[in-house]
Amino acid sequence: MSYGLLKGKRGVIFGALNEQSIAWKVAVKAVEEGATITLSNTAIAIRMGQISDLAKELGCEVIPADATSYEDLQEVFRRSQEILGGKIDFVLHSIGMSPNVRKGRTYDDLDYGMLSKTLDISAVSFHKMIQAAKKEDAIAEYGSIIALTYMAAQRTMFGYNDMADAKALLESIARSFGYIYGREKNVRINTISQSPTMTTAGSGVKGMDRLFDFASRMSPLGNASADECADYCIVMFSDLTRKVTMQNLFHDGGFSSMGMSLRAMATYEKGLGEYMDENGKIIYG
Ligand SMILES: NC(=O)c1ccc[n+]([C@@H]2O[C@H](COP(=O)([O-])OP(=O)(O)OC[C@H]3O[C@@H](n4cnc5c(N)ncnc54)[C@H](O)[C@@H]3O)[C@@H](O)[C@H]2O)c1
Repeated sequence: MSYGLLKGKRGVIFGALNEQSIAWKVAVKAVEEGATITLSNTAIAIRMGQISDLAKELGCEVIPADATSYEDLQEVFRRSQEILGGKIDFVLHSIGMSPNVRKGRTYDDLDYGMLSKTLDISAVSFHKMIQAAKKEDAIAEYGSIIALTYMAAQRTMFGYNDMADAKALLESIARSFGYIYGREKNVRINTISQSPTMTTAGSGVKGMDRLFDFASRMSPLGNASADECADYCIVMFSDLTRKVTMQNLFHDGGFSSMGMSLRAMATYEKGLGEYMDENGKIIYG
């Protein structure tokens, strides 16, 4: 059902790879709500993923960009304004990747070249995106910029590795730039902290299926799905949230405020046997 929340608005959506991608769902809902959009992803993701099918379905253009390249990002905002016929009202940064996670390097054995890549792709790209848009004066007054993040920025989660540091930086960039862009142009910048979600990026996290199950048992409302995350993004892009900025907004069914739930405890009580050595000592992961 459409509410026309984004009627007449123009948006740029980064990070739709396939149908599971959160950005994919956001793109579909943004168009349903009346927006016109452009999509962006890396050249390789455009070749290997299904974003071209999405563009066809929505009647929009895909602009290739590596989010670590400032020039590529400048070009996305220049072209998007030309294609859409005016300044941009909303932007979604839905980008994350850790070479250390991909290569199975643990947090106490990081490759620092890879750590730089993790931070550049997953966090500094947000700064570059906003700086490029601001210098081009590409964002309309009261525009809304959102990046997707995860609670591992605040609390240590097993297996999230150097992505936790990237997310902490990402959330900080939203606050630091939110002040400047808000003061000068009333542009709001927020991060949405999403539940574990079964996507290509999500499935790369070590122990994802168990993390997903645990989060679901802990959250009074259960895990938030990619579709529900898209709904929240739409509200944040709309005029209904014009004074919300510099926030990290939890969209996690209540997980971030929980300590222990009955459902999680019932599972925990089934035993730690699996995690003990032959002397009964707990093996920590
Ligand atoms: N899936 C989860 O459990 C979960 C939970 C919380 C937050 N998030 C965040 O949501 C966002 C979207 O991830 P997703 O779960 O939809 O997975 P996804 O794999 O569908 O999306 C990740 C996207 O990042 C893009 N990307 C990677 N490197 C890039 C680069 N150099 N330049 C431009 N784009 C690049 C990929 O092509 C892909 O489209 C990420 O920031 C992720 O960290 C995901």
